[in-house]
Amino acid sequence: MALYAHIVGWGKYIPENAVTNDDIAKIMDTSDEWIRSRTGIGQRYFAGPHETTASMSIAAARLALDRARIAPSSIDLIIVATLTPEHIFPATACLVQDALGATHAGAFDLSAACSGFIYGLSMGSNAIQSGAAKVVLVIGAETLSRVLDIEDRTTYPLFGDGAGAVVLQAHPTPGGVLSYVLGSDGSGGEHLNIPAGGSKLPTSQHTIDNRLHYVKMNGREVYRFATRVMGKVSKEACERAGVPLNEIDLFIPHQANIRIIESASKFLGISSDKVFTNLDRYGNTSAASVPIALCEAIEQGRVSTNDKIVMVGFGGGLTWGAAVVQWGLPMPYKRRQWWYRGLRWLVYRQARLRSIWLRWRRQIENKLPEDEQKDFLPSKKEAKPKPEKPVKEPVEQRHSDNGRSANGAGKPVEIAPPEPKPEQTVEEK
Ligand code: COA
Repeated sequence: MALYAHIVGWGKYIPENAVTNDDIAKIMDTSDEWIRSRTGIGQRYFAGPHETTASMSIAAARLALDRARIAPSSIDLIIVATLTPEHIFPATACLVQDALGATHAGAFDLSAACSGFIYGLSMGSNAIQSGAAKVVLVIGAETLSRVLDIEDRTTYPLFGDGAGAVVLQAHPTPGGVLSYVLGSDGSGGEHLNIPAGGSKLPTSQHTIDNRLHYVKMNGREVYRFATRVMGKVSKEACERAGVPLNEIDLFIPHQANIRIIESASKFLGISSDKVFTNLDRYGNTSAASVPIALCEAIEQGRVSTNDKIVMVGFGGGLTWGAAVVQWGLPMPYKRRQWWYRGLRWLVYRQARLRSIWLRWRRQIENKLPEDEQKDFLPSKKEAKPKPEKPVKEPVEQRHSDNGRSANGAGKPVEIAPPEPKPEQTVEEK
């Protein structure tokens, strides 16, 4: 049976600290007029000291899971697309896995800069269509404010922080992620990068003195590249999905620069009412920009059942990618009831306790004499044969419905079948 990867949950997290262009003009030689006219950005949000890529990812993921009515234990795979991970390793996705209590999930970070979310969506959809996963959590999250150079007016005003997440679920109803196209050109990598902090230029006094841990960008080069690829890759993705450009209901581009977005929309012949933009309020949040924009579009009632949505990204690498999604869920979305959210709260408290217990257990194990450690964690040879497990019911059937259960019991999420196309008459043909 063919499986389709449907978006069944979505969530975003925006830090509280809004920084306007005028605020930036107070600390560097720039102006609201310059930033607005060249980029379309009016303000952005910067993370507070307590906020990180992982904390924002977790907040966005929880919302997405609530909306999907899916228990964290049902997640098979967590992908966090980011260029500002919590650490070089472990992956931010593993921190998300632990905080959610996603006990059956694989987890990894994906590095494709501002195209990261589209890459993640594609990988998640592949995992579902191949049958390898039934539920995939795809997150785009950034704390770019931590890698922006306050002495560089060509990059500092452009970027912001935030996170967006979607839950993909396997479903037999046609729709969901219809197609994607990914691309890259490493020869342009030096035009948008963070030179130091990796294996080529490990942190040293020299890299710090030369401010090499901050984002460097050749704006003109990136601008030229973006205007070339954004429309083209969107068109290719539509062709692959068999969706004519005039049937696109909503175009959600990476929110980097309004002029780049306008150029892509013009190339595709999409009217401005079908183009979603929010960069005036958030700036460029890199991998988080497309999922945040998708969440906002849904909140504003701009997504209806069976809508064909084109999402496109471009960025460092250089990388680019576009995906076409047919929205399957009945809309508008009904908010969860308070008691359901309460049950969810308990699920996440339980995840926290589990995490603390696992850390304690490791500490206890370390203190035990070696021979007792063996008893504590029996080796495979010594392990007693386990009684046969009952066959698991399919994941769809474990998902809760209408908030009846927070632990995954209930009916699958409802996906509306696609509208039948009107039949052509002989004269029309
Ligand atoms: N405030 C005031 N002046 C600024 C400025 C700022 N924040 N940033 C740059 N300038 C100045 C430059 O120093 C330059 O001055 P000069 O002529 O005296 O040397 C002048 O403005 C023009 O700079 P330039 O880089 O040519 O501007 P631009 O018209 O190309 O616009 C960008 C710059 C960054 C807005 C534009 O190139 C762009 O949007 N590029 C794409 C960036 C992008 O999308 N990045 C994210 C990819 S995911």
